[in-house]
Amino acid sequence: MILLMYIFAMRKTKNKKLTEIHAPIVEALKKYYKNPSVQFHIPGHTKGLGTLPDFRNLIGKKALSLDTTDEFDNLGTLNPATGPIKEAQELAAQAFGAKETFFLLNGSTIGNLAIAMGLTKKGQKVVVNRNCHRSVLTGLIISGADPLWIIPEKLNDWGLWGNINPQDIEKLLKENDDVSLVWITNPTYEGVVSDIKSISEVCKKYDVPLIVDEAHGCLWNFHDKLPQTSLKCGADIVVHSLHKTGGSMSQSSMLHISKDSKIDPSDVERSLMLLHTTSPSLLLLGSLDASRANLQSDRGQNQINKAISNAKYLRSEIDKMEHIHQLKSGFGFMTDVTKIFIKADGLSGKRLESILEIDFGIEVESASDEGILILSNIGNKKSDFQYLAQCLHKIDTHNYKDIYYLENKKHMPMLTPIIKKNLRDAYFSKKEIIPKSEAVGRLSGEVVAECPPGISILLPGELITEAHLPYLTDYDTIEVIKG
Ligand SMILES: Cc1ncc(COP(=O)(O)O)c(C=O)c1O
Repeated sequence: MILLMYIFAMRKTKNKKLTEIHAPIVEALKKYYKNPSVQFHIPGHTKGLGTLPDFRNLIGKKALSLDTTDEFDNLGTLNPATGPIKEAQELAAQAFGAKETFFLLNGSTIGNLAIAMGLTKKGQKVVVNRNCHRSVLTGLIISGADPLWIIPEKLNDWGLWGNINPQDIEKLLKENDDVSLVWITNPTYEGVVSDIKSISEVCKKYDVPLIVDEAHGCLWNFHDKLPQTSLKCGADIVVHSLHKTGGSMSQSSMLHISKDSKIDPSDVERSLMLLHTTSPSLLLLGSLDASRANLQSDRGQNQINKAISNAKYLRSEIDKMEHIHQLKSGFGFMTDVTKIFIKADGLSGKRLESILEIDFGIEVESASDEGILILSNIGNKKSDFQYLAQCLHKIDTHNYKDIYYLENKKHMPMLTPIIKKNLRDAYFSKKEIIPKSEAVGRLSGEVVAECPPGISILLPGELITEAHLPYLTDYDTIEVIKG
């Protein structure tokens, strides 16, 4: 009886905690759905009636009824933030411990563009890791700032970029007293984590703001068994793709400005205003609000616990395998337990990916030359991992051969660039398209960056060498700078 009363009391507190979690956009959308107006405004499908019935039935009438944009029906506006959208951004800032949080549509891509456009200028130097996402480079093309490359450690056995050394950043800051930003990626796509605390101390010593593209690390804020978010390690600005691992809908992300930062949030906000769509999707904004509220709730906490324990389970199964290996924390770097990079003896990553897909109906996050990336997500079930482990055991004990894969193709660019021209000047130079066979010795005119992981192989103004050719097997021609 006492036990029953205890369980009842626990349920009550849990439920109370859940209802206390406030999601203003979600609540405004509920109100809007319950009190429909007669619409004479965009979107012109008007609650789904103006689209293909097959499509409407597929995604549901309710979803289309809720597909609206800001300004209407008391739902607030995004730029500038007003109403429930403003309130939701404030709650997100509180949840992440930020001074200000901006909701992003068009993913973390637009966050990176806004940072470059708002905080850097033509000719300014920006310390940036070579394996940054191409959106950082697009930002630098827009602003005209010059990248000073940090070349991270290379985990050659894994064909992956490793961590960024604070000493390398310090060396660049010592040699260049006119750096406007240090802008790094953490974690890498495959979950390699750098020592942000030490990097932030270096940046503070030289009084240079630190921006961290933490697109793949939004869960860290919500769980102490995961690495510490850069916002708590001294970064000035952090960008999170909530849609990647946080449970929001595709394309929705957040940009946070730290409480201690000297950066004026309005410098970023002004750029966001120019870059953002003027018809923001309330569904995407609502999903960001819902994701933050879920991650803060007991339910979200349980889901993160489950993602961690599922990952640990898979990792323990992989440890039992003879021919399949996993990337673990190593000298000078940590890994995020929920991102499991594995490789199999005698199989390329692409071949392993296709075995899983064709023979077992499994779709992984990505495959590189060496291995594949598996994400343990908050929406996965334990049974997903049991099935995956079973299949990997089969592959481990079966004599699969790498017969189809063309080994001369490479996916993960790990070259040191030879820069001949400013990125922006090169991008806007006169260009011509030539056969790839004539490309060596010319300067690239385009951004060559395969997705995933969206890391650049060649940038405008960089010398094309023989070493680039294995990365360009899909190209018959290439755009180069004229003359
Ligand atoms: C490190 C990094 N930053 C930014 C992005 C862009 O994020 P989004 O897809 O949210 O625009 C990606 C995408 O994969 C990424 O890997």
